[in-house]
Amino acid sequence: MTAIPVVPLNTGVAIPQLGLGTWPMDDAEVADAVVAAADLGYRHIDTATAYGNEAGVAEGIRRTGIPREEFFVTTKLDGSFQGGDRAVAGLQAALERMRFDYVDLLLIHWPLPKRDEYVSTWRTFERLHAGGLARAIGVSNFKVPHLERLAAEADVVPAVNQVELDPRVPRPAQREYAAAHGIVTESYSPLGGASGAASLLADPVLTELAERHSRTPAQIVLRWHVQQGMVALPKSSNPKRMAENLGVFEFELSPADLDRLAPLAGGPDAGNDSDRIGH
Ligand code: A2P
Repeated sequence: MTAIPVVPLNTGVAIPQLGLGTWPMDDAEVADAVVAAADLGYRHIDTATAYGNEAGVAEGIRRTGIPREEFFVTTKLDGSFQGGDRAVAGLQAALERMRFDYVDLLLIHWPLPKRDEYVSTWRTFERLHAGGLARAIGVSNFKVPHLERLAAEADVVPAVNQVELDPRVPRPAQREYAAAHGIVTESYSPLGGASGAASLLADPVLTELAERHSRTPAQIVLRWHVQQGMVALPKSSNPKRMAENLGVFEFELSPADLDRLAPLAGGPDAGNDSDRIGH
């Protein structure tokens, strides 16, 4: 079984550098996926209230027979839980669905800047963290100005910013801000997402690097993420691919290899910006 390295978060909690993405699996599918993933060595599972599969994630974890505390579980609260104290009820409902006492990481799913409630939501997150219901708190889909506002108006620095990120959409500004402020960058859709993975993984540069390293294009892409310090959350319902995705810790890319991947940025999917849902 592959040992997955951990990265320290600013709260002192350690996060496994590879986790299982779970969107768009339903409860039944995700429970099976979690059991298969845990059997291969995964201990980090990423879900969200908006995915509608938190109960299935928790059910899968219980089915493994592995103690809850050996897992790192993230969930996210979307717009319905922004503003006032709505996040309190949001987390409570998520914990009841999961039948857990706490989550390892709780994220604001989207900044929704036009609603302008992410700062007050974050203050509520700070209280949830202080109360022990979330061992760490962070954000998702935040741009640098949103992070700067939290820094100016709140006390706790987000432990992570989870963004859609792959070699075609490398988001240097968010990564640089995060690195300078002790925020871990998590990559969702690290392989290009449900609609983009096939075209990204067919890129000739990736195919060539894969052949040279006797790896698969997916492993080259995931290596690109972890070697640059990101936490990667590849989604797969397929145990063979889950295992393949863990192989990322068994080889290294050279600086020249990483340079070869740089020109992928700004490719056909560079405009595929998650802000379109972030109104
Ligand atoms: P599947 O669940 O059938 O394995 P992302 O993590 O970027 O969102 O990408 C997820 C997509 O990539 C899913 O469609 C998933 O399909 C597929 N995928 C996951 N791992 C691999 C892999 N190692 N090789 C090819 N496709 C993969």
